Amino acid sequence: MSLSIVILAAGQGTRMKSQFPKVLHPLAGRPMVKYVLDVATQLEPTGLALVIGYGAQQLRQALGDEVLYVEQPEQLGTGHAVLQARELLAGQAETVLVLYGDTPFITRQTLEAMLRHHTENKAAITLLTFQPDDPTGYGRILRDETGKVVGIVEHKEASPEQRGITEVNSGILCFRDAWLWSRLEKLEPKHGEYYLTDLVELAVAEGELVAAKAADVAEVMGLDDRVKLARAEALMRQCINEGWMLAGVTLLDPASTYIEASVEIGQDTVIYPNTHLRGATTIGCNCRIGPNTIVCDSTIGNECVIEASVVEGATLEDDVDVGPFAHLRKGAHLAKGVHVGNFGEIKNSYLGPGTKMGHFSYLGDATLGANVNVGAGTITCNYDGERKHPTVVEDDVFIGSDTMLVAPVKLGKGAKTGAGAVVTRDIPPGQVAYGVPAKAKEADKADRE
Ligand code: UD1
Repeated sequence: MSLSIVILAAGQGTRMKSQFPKVLHPLAGRPMVKYVLDVATQLEPTGLALVIGYGAQQLRQALGDEVLYVEQPEQLGTGHAVLQARELLAGQAETVLVLYGDTPFITRQTLEAMLRHHTENKAAITLLTFQPDDPTGYGRILRDETGKVVGIVEHKEASPEQRGITEVNSGILCFRDAWLWSRLEKLEPKHGEYYLTDLVELAVAEGELVAAKAADVAEVMGLDDRVKLARAEALMRQCINEGWMLAGVTLLDPASTYIEASVEIGQDTVIYPNTHLRGATTIGCNCRIGPNTIVCDSTIGNECVIEASVVEGATLEDDVDVGPFAHLRKGAHLAKGVHVGNFGEIKNSYLGPGTKMGHFSYLGDATLGANVNVGAGTITCNYDGERKHPTVVEDDVFIGSDTMLVAPVKLGKGAKTGAGAVVTRDIPPGQVAYGVPAKAKEADKADRE
């Protein structure tokens, strides 16, 4: 069976009370509509259109060029929204599936079962229905005495008796393509809106079959306010955390562990409480992460330890330990065996294998070789008020406590600085420099003679 898919996402989502379109609100770090787009793609449709309207520009920006957009300039109802996709999709496939951008929990299995049911019954329309605890606001499913679906009445128009019906329309439904598109034009507006759901009555009047398939509330519940969003976030977090635990990752306290959907974690890694793993982050095997740690857009090797620290846009090779209270920023690259202790900040810098930076230091735009000792309080003075300058420290250098490295500057292999040195000139390999401004021992001796 060939398939076209229309995802409706033009509404503002008034109840979200937000300046962003509802479907861009994130769940586990991803805009909720992305989950719907993923499921839609898994169904391998011949065509897929995302109907946008409110916040169209923000949506285009967030989702990029991989999606085919159809603009609904005015939000005149779900029937009008689907009609906008006619030019793009009509006649392209046998079945047209309509999804909502705010139902991120819908699964491929449920949609496949519904599509099978649709084909088997040769229906003109198949509805996905459900029974919420409180049906207020939903379209109620009208059935005749034999149980056949004969219509959907929207809450606004429903009589008190009809409001007592507990089976409601999820909004997800599919149509026979050859039937749908010409019928959409026949819809009459109600309260200024063209209801997609009015097609049910039309189909029945034409002697067509309207089928229905029941779905689980948890899958089809739209996230239209922040209370539902928070509940969904908790649910999504639970799914993600359980997924990692079953894959061999220990979470000491899943309730205070926040792992976004995009993160990867290796076996036997242990995540301590109050840890946030975000964005494009990969963590290797047998690491200890947390407690009280944020890792974002970073690659962490195997056997690493990160304690009570913030790591953003950084790369850690194997066997690196960081923290407590370190801040690794964009472009920090720590080679195998590096140690960064408390109150260290590193930005756009490479630290070679075995290099140690134990306490209170800042390295920015620096390249350090292997086995360098960065003494407590070492600072790269990389910014002159206008431009950033590089610092190069070769292998086996010993930087004394409180050394200021005024960039651009280079410390040759095996060089040493004395405590409190302010290094404004390069230090040749193997030499010791001290003082303010620092002079290499040999040069100092010559000056004094
Ligand atoms: C709709 C259904 C209702 C169902 C409910 C499930 C109709 C007439 N009613 O209610 O039977 O129980 O969904 O949540 O279809 N949208 C557009 N353009 C528009 C209007 C809406 O793209 O002009 C999109 C929204 O962004 C949203 C979806 O359609 O993703 C549903 O809109 P919403 O206003 O939430 O649903 P209702 O019309 O109240």
